Amino acid sequence: MHRHGVRQMRTGWADGPEFVTQCPIRPGGSYTYRFTIQGQEGTLWWHAHSSWLRATVYGALIIRPKEGDSYPFQKPKRETALLLGEWWNANPIDVVRQATRTGAAPNVSDAYTINGQPGDLYNCSSKDTLIVPVDSGETNLLRVVNSGLNQQLFFKVANHKLTVVGADASYVKPFTTSVLMLGPGQTTDVLITADQPPTRYYIAARAYASAQGAPFDNTTTTAILEYKSAPCPAKGAKIKPVMPTMPAFNDTATATAFTTSFRSPRQVPVPTNIDHNLFFTVGLGLNNCPPGASRSTCQGPNGTRFTASMNNASFVLPSNFSLLQAHQQGIPGVFTTDFPANPPVQFDYTGNVSRSLWQPIRGTKLYTLKYGETVQLVLQGTSIFTAENHPIHLHGYDFYIIAEGFGNFNPSRDTTKFNLVDPPLRNTASVPVGGWAVIRFVADNPGVWLLHCHLDVHITWGLAMAFLVENGVSELQTLEAPPADLPVC
Ligand code: C2O
Repeated sequence: MHRHGVRQMRTGWADGPEFVTQCPIRPGGSYTYRFTIQGQEGTLWWHAHSSWLRATVYGALIIRPKEGDSYPFQKPKRETALLLGEWWNANPIDVVRQATRTGAAPNVSDAYTINGQPGDLYNCSSKDTLIVPVDSGETNLLRVVNSGLNQQLFFKVANHKLTVVGADASYVKPFTTSVLMLGPGQTTDVLITADQPPTRYYIAARAYASAQGAPFDNTTTTAILEYKSAPCPAKGAKIKPVMPTMPAFNDTATATAFTTSFRSPRQVPVPTNIDHNLFFTVGLGLNNCPPGASRSTCQGPNGTRFTASMNNASFVLPSNFSLLQAHQQGIPGVFTTDFPANPPVQFDYTGNVSRSLWQPIRGTKLYTLKYGETVQLVLQGTSIFTAENHPIHLHGYDFYIIAEGFGNFNPSRDTTKFNLVDPPLRNTASVPVGGWAVIRFVADNPGVWLLHCHLDVHITWGLAMAFLVENGVSELQTLEAPPADLPVC
């Protein structure tokens, strides 16, 4: 079980991803996660971090201001957490197993949900549609979480403006918008004022599908914002809620306008003397069918198998020990520390990529950071097979997103766009389709921390790596000892 976004200072053992910070909890077994939440306020969430189990095992983790403190905005009358989920009419574990067997892309989901309910636009589900009550004039807080597996989502409330006040448990400089876009893993807190004629309005979410020609679930999930003073409907009948106009599925302009609106509330201490200047490509790949393999195992495009990588390394989890155990106990042979700081070969990342660069190398490669070192990381999307937006999540850290853009990152041109004054602090960055994002952080939390695409289909294919952050000198700069009930493999 992972608490997504909780920094877990020195308590990496409580982070949760299987084979990274712990072995999985066996059926019937138990493990008590012990950790402290410090300096974070807003909305995070928890989810299973084993295969695709998080499809149905997740929930909100809400951190309110300390007793006696208040929000840095008008106190909302009510608060509602809205968890956007993804549903298969099948066991999601069977869906991913089939994909791993055949080498093809997994089936897309059959529905999206809001707090577990698909809503009125699907067959037979309208009697359980989530109702969010409001009173005319009041201002409420919606805590929106994309807990879906594989799809970025647009989110709207018909006829209502949304004021964004926080994201990933950090406050932001408030801005007003009619539409949100969240990648899986991201959270957005918004204020909504009930200033419209008292009736019923749909709250709706549907795909932002940035990959050209790739199949996706094109359905729409809804809940209902219901004014309590709405006139009583005639017997039995219900007033049909007003439906918002959703952005087109491929509306990258709207997604970009949203993601580039984020600022920290005030000037923030962005690291400037950079110890590690890193450049990671993030993208898909296609492996040729292994010699002698049955064609039924190579059902990817043109008889291949799907894969994915960062810097041409396709990440493989260990199976006997967690990476954190192997690191802390010095167990050899579990991982190597040769994850490259730069792509092994430079190429036109977002152009027409030569087929010879489509097959990454599998491995369990980590990148080592010393305690307290500063990192700048350029996340560069590739157009291998297809360009696509990637929600990249770093465990154990928040980072500043100092710039994003399209095409290949160009240091001489693009460093001038860096926001070193008030960039947003996040735990998951939306790397634009066919583009890049630049993040910065200080390695102040010792342990082993996964960096991965939060589309579970991509992590399955290997779109991940991990940072090994060494201990500092004092006890407060050192990973705690593992708990006695830490599961064994
Ligand atoms: Cu939301 Cu690796 O996790």
